[in-house]
Amino acid sequence: MEIAVLRERHPLERRVALAPSHLASLEKLGCRVRVESGSGARAGWSDDEYRAAGAEVVQDPGALLEGARCVLKIRPPSMREGGADGGESEVDRLPAGSLLISFLSPGAADGLLEALASRNVSAIAMERMPRTTRAQRMDALSSQASAGGYRAALLAATHLPRFFPMLTTAAGTIPPAKVLVLGAGVAGLQAIATAKRLGAQVQGYDIRSAAAEQVRSLGATFLEETEEDAALEEAETEGGYARALAESEKDRQLAFLGRHVPKADVVITTAQIPGRPAPLLVTRAMVEEMAGGSVIVDLAGETGGNCELSRAGETIEHGGVTILAPTDLPSGVAQHTSRMYGTNLIAVLSHLLDDGEVRLDLEDEILGTVLVTHEGAVRVPPSPSS
Ligand code: NAI
Repeated sequence: MEIAVLRERHPLERRVALAPSHLASLEKLGCRVRVESGSGARAGWSDDEYRAAGAEVVQDPGALLEGARCVLKIRPPSMREGGADGGESEVDRLPAGSLLISFLSPGAADGLLEALASRNVSAIAMERMPRTTRAQRMDALSSQASAGGYRAALLAATHLPRFFPMLTTAAGTIPPAKVLVLGAGVAGLQAIATAKRLGAQVQGYDIRSAAAEQVRSLGATFLEETEEDAALEEAETEGGYARALAESEKDRQLAFLGRHVPKADVVITTAQIPGRPAPLLVTRAMVEEMAGGSVIVDLAGETGGNCELSRAGETIEHGGVTILAPTDLPSGVAQHTSRMYGTNLIAVLSHLLDDGEVRLDLEDEILGTVLVTHEGAVRVPPSPSS
């Protein structure tokens, strides 16, 4: 089977869908890989490294995609001529009948799925991967979120005009920075672990009670509502995700967080509800109570932000508090995140390949969830959160 790897054209994207080290496994699976020239450059891999690993490196994207049965990407393919992706419509170039495996949201243009369907492309949306043991190796959302959490802690440490660890020096004793991580899923737990390694005093918070033990196992404190706070009802759904809170619960939560957020030097927010805007956890009033120099890193910027003041992709300052809402954190460790993503893709391909050819069995639980366009139509598969 012919596989094509398209170069990522988004200006902030440094990752590539496959690393040279993945090519041997694909060859064993009976796949031939073509890579667009320059695909790995921003992750630190040259065309020669891909060639040495067995790939054909192709300059022209049209020639690259010709006859490809499967196209691998990270960001959703571009649609508009002259858009942010360098003026090329990647969707229009995808071979009819091919299989596209990529993240398809957020950040995707409206009408992307319809455009893919009308080109008769079968598209797998990596972000829809079910959170099951069987699909664990294919879970790119987790591999990339983990890198996001790690980088969020580093970014906070770089912007904070204070040390993270406690220091005992001849010039006095410096207390550790107080870091509060809101949302202790994959990204949040990695942010907690990283901030701990840097020596900060770390607190974690989540509305899923199961997160408490995970936070404590990293040596951090779990911020818990007391009886006086009227603790929230269990908020974990059957799928393991958090549910959206009712209005009265949100008010209680904000009152609770309002007592803790202003005491932190760093707040890292990662809270998400699948398929919905991110919950508001840090209000303008809370930011205004924080000490000058404090830092907020909002990982939910792309879905509306957990902080009232954050703006996706921007760094702003409000009353001496720096608020960052980066949308490209996994790109900051592009070599490892590309390797992890490529490994996730190989797991998907291994699952679909039968005698060296892709077979799309719509009855399959995993494929049934992730396949969003097929045979010229947009499918509405079950939500991964249900
Ligand atoms: P996510 O990215 O959807 O959300 C991040 C965190 O925000 C979650 O822990 C969520 O509980 C929390 N959150 C949502 N609303 C909140 C609010 N109002 N206040 C405070 N926190 C709030 O979550 P992620 O990281 O994708 O993990 C979701 C679940 O999936 C977790 O239970 C995780 O353990 C599970 N998981 C299972 C996997 C598997 O079985 N293969 C792999 C990865 C995750």
